[in-house]
Amino acid sequence: MPADLHGLELTTDSDDAAAAYGDCVRAYLGFKLDTGEHLKRTFAADGEMPMALITRGYFFHLFCLPGLEAKAVQSREQAEAAIAQRGATKREKWHLAALAAWNRGDMAAATDQWERILLEYPRDVLALRLSHYSHFYLHGGAAMRQSVGRIMHAWDEGVPDYGYVLGVCAFANEEAGDYAAAEAAGRRAVEINPGDIWATHAVAHVLEMQGRQREGIDWLDGLCGEWGDINNFRFHTWWHKAMYHLELGQHDAVLALYDGEYRAEPTEDYLDVTNATAMLWRLEYLGVDIGERWRELADVAERHSQDAILAFADAHYMMALAKDGRDAAAAQMLAALEQASTGQGSQAKVLAEVGLPVCRATLALAKGDDGSAADLLLPLRDRIWRLGGSHAQRDVWAQMLCRSVMGAGRNQEARALLAQRTAEKPNSPISWRWYAEALAACGDGAAAAEARGRADQLLSG
Ligand SMILES: [Fe+2]
Repeated sequence: MPADLHGLELTTDSDDAAAAYGDCVRAYLGFKLDTGEHLKRTFAADGEMPMALITRGYFFHLFCLPGLEAKAVQSREQAEAAIAQRGATKREKWHLAALAAWNRGDMAAATDQWERILLEYPRDVLALRLSHYSHFYLHGGAAMRQSVGRIMHAWDEGVPDYGYVLGVCAFANEEAGDYAAAEAAGRRAVEINPGDIWATHAVAHVLEMQGRQREGIDWLDGLCGEWGDINNFRFHTWWHKAMYHLELGQHDAVLALYDGEYRAEPTEDYLDVTNATAMLWRLEYLGVDIGERWRELADVAERHSQDAILAFADAHYMMALAKDGRDAAAAQMLAALEQASTGQGSQAKVLAEVGLPVCRATLALAKGDDGSAADLLLPLRDRIWRLGGSHAQRDVWAQMLCRSVMGAGRNQEARALLAQRTAEKPNSPISWRWYAEALAACGDGAAAAEARGRADQLLSG
């Protein structure tokens, strides 16, 4: 029985299939455009290889598209049939159980399976990467870091793909708030492989969280030449560069990157849509004219308004519908999400607890009803992480909360929230500006002037 680069046995008689499958997993770790090509090569060598069929099912789920959910189920059924014929290792059967859980929308149970695999097979990079993904949307940074903490003992510089594992370690630590550990791991991974976009992105997050905008721009400028063979994830990394420019008040650069990079193509990929919608929302808070850009996003959002696969994506689709005044589509979407929130899957709970109130607040904001939005968002302020995504991505909802409270004239609450924000983001000029606004509204002119001074000082670099 062939084994992969990490010593894990694969149920196939074909060494070619095992080799192509290894290329596929490595390409997946690297967000490479040719990931699917390697999977096709695998099937050309062995059309019924269990791990290849299971992996295809995982990949279908990762797109978060309703049309591919049935194909993910089909892949699992084919894997079951193949395993009934030729058998499978214990590890492969656990992967099958993970896919079956995901098929029924139980991402938490799927994650439990991957974590079970990792206890015994800490070099199963596929289980590691999928668990990393699932924790990201379901359990938050602490779980991501705990997951990585259980496998690093099995990895060192001499093990193939160590760099990719360091990249996972870096992002997990960043989301858990250990920026020093995250930056060290991420920078080492990029030294090993400058094309490792996940590690590049992990360091970009550290620089975002610490308000090191100018360093962030230089970091990504120095590495973007490596992204020629990267899939849509490169758009998200360009979005990070735009986030630095946004904080520095360089709005033309944000829009140039919007049109030239992270929304240069009108794709349907949910992450691409979240990048664009959340950036337009932020730009409008800063009074930037974003032209007709909502319309194209609202078209995409309308097509996905009934998906209800990932609450994080749904919350962004709602932004586009609300801002483009698609009242009927927004109402239909809300009804679909209410229905979905009564389901049994992991995302149903996320929708019920956080997704729905966030969507309702989004609609209220677009109608100018700041008070209602504030009432909806205020109780969620410490639970918004349940919606999934990164700290940097979720900050759009922290901004919504601050601006809705300010818009409703609730000055004391605004001062408190912005005091918290500037304490957490002392290098954020936007936060100091808003804090100054809130302090002035509370009648504290001296403190407002000091806050404005902090913003000016940061912008003058
Ligand atoms: Fe990110």
